Amino acid sequence: MTTFTVTTPIYYANAQPHIGHAYTTIAADVLARHARQQGRPTFSLTGTDEHGEPIARAAAAQGVSPQALVDASTERFRALLGVLHAEPDFFVRTTSAEHRRQVGELLGQLRERGLIYKAGYDGQYCPRCADFKSGREAADGRCADHDLALEAHCEENWFFRLSAFSTQLAEHLERNADWIVPASRHNEARALVAAGLQDVSISRATLTWGVTVPWDPDQVFYVWFDALLNYLTAPTSAGRPDAWPAAVQLIGKDILKFHAIFWPAVLWALGRPLPERLVVHGHLLVDGRKASKSRGNVIDPFAVAAEVGADALRVALLRDVPWLGDGSLSSASTFTRSRDELADVYGNLVRRVSSLVVRHRSALAPACAVPAPVLAALDGVDDRVGQALGRAALGEALEHAWAAARALNGVVDLLAPWKLARDNDQVALDAALGGLLEGVRAVSVLLHPFAPDGTARTLKALHASASWTEARARAHVSARPVDELAPLYPKRPSGRQVQDPA
Ligand code: MSP
Repeated sequence: MTTFTVTTPIYYANAQPHIGHAYTTIAADVLARHARQQGRPTFSLTGTDEHGEPIARAAAAQGVSPQALVDASTERFRALLGVLHAEPDFFVRTTSAEHRRQVGELLGQLRERGLIYKAGYDGQYCPRCADFKSGREAADGRCADHDLALEAHCEENWFFRLSAFSTQLAEHLERNADWIVPASRHNEARALVAAGLQDVSISRATLTWGVTVPWDPDQVFYVWFDALLNYLTAPTSAGRPDAWPAAVQLIGKDILKFHAIFWPAVLWALGRPLPERLVVHGHLLVDGRKASKSRGNVIDPFAVAAEVGADALRVALLRDVPWLGDGSLSSASTFTRSRDELADVYGNLVRRVSSLVVRHRSALAPACAVPAPVLAALDGVDDRVGQALGRAALGEALEHAWAAARALNGVVDLLAPWKLARDNDQVALDAALGGLLEGVRAVSVLLHPFAPDGTARTLKALHASASWTEARARAHVSARPVDELAPLYPKRPSGRQVQDPA
């Protein structure tokens, strides 16, 4: 079975992690968890981008060494993983000796192949992007992204022959219409290629905080080339050569050019395969503008997770933000609302069904033929969720699983086990309880990649597994014990809780 590799961008370690970073990390974790539940060997990769001008400047401003700065901020990015219940297989740091060594080696290979040469470079540079800017990106001499005055830079640099890959890239995009999703981003990449590709400078003479160019120690590699190569250095460092090519590379739309243009050219130049798919999401907007440290409109994911829990944070970002579009987060109420909804839809379902089994059957779910309404509520949903996840359509997959959980709540009302108990209809009561519990189990498997905490607790209490082979509700079930479960998503007093009759 081929390895399923999913990557996030490596995050700039010049600032605290914010909700935008959490977003990509969560999306990658959903795909990785789904691959794991399918039993596929999985490599989920994330990490921090620790070189370059922004880091050097931030460190100087704080009066600390760049290494001390990145050591501290990397710890925050690692801590965020735990808070989000994200479980990547590897965390790459670009200041690690292993990464630095491989970057020198890989770019050395390009030089041996005649794809790197030295020339003069004149350009307008944004210190925040750590990138030269031109055209629309540099209107009025200001960086369009950061609204900062651009600086004139003139130096001798090493250049990568990007222009040599124009035709190959144009043909690749032409033939593989879904290599980049959504289609609008694919078209954007085609337009970039059609506008003409210039060779690109890959080293800096004015900086020292970076990977030294092995054959020209007065220069360091331009941070983007050091950073892009993490996708190749990390599998080697992790002893997982099987982990490249990636099945899915997730990025924000701000870094399309680097991943859709530079990256495939570098891979071809190295004789390595391209990732199967580039999935480009939009930006989380807070107060109508991209959430970013420089704008000061960030939402702290640590604070949100502490208040509502990881599951609600994950679900809020994947339900309230249209997947791959831009999404506005107005305030923290988005997250409490999501927690309350999760509690109402999934938490209530689990609590209602498990407590009915405890009350009426002494915590032993009876063997039965699963009632038709339970099977109807779940009919085909595993296929719909699985297919959507296979296309990395996370929002759609979650909606399907969510709809099934909602429908099952309706089936609890319809079957009304409390009435069957009152009427002493033992056969129907057994079928209702055993069948509803089977529904809860199947829905928990479907929701597991999205809400790993609550679903894992439920599945444990049901002595069941999150494996995808178990995602379909069975038509006949045998007797099973159910352990007592604490409420999954304790809510504020304002929360609504369905109380079923005794
Ligand atoms: N270090 C580079 C990436 C190198 S990858 C080889 C970088 N880092 S970043 O920290 O500025 O942003 C990385 C990613 O964080 C974005 O591509 C995106 O995935 C995520 N986000 C950062 N801000 C975001 C929002 N406001 N909204 C959604 N995601 C955003 O670029």
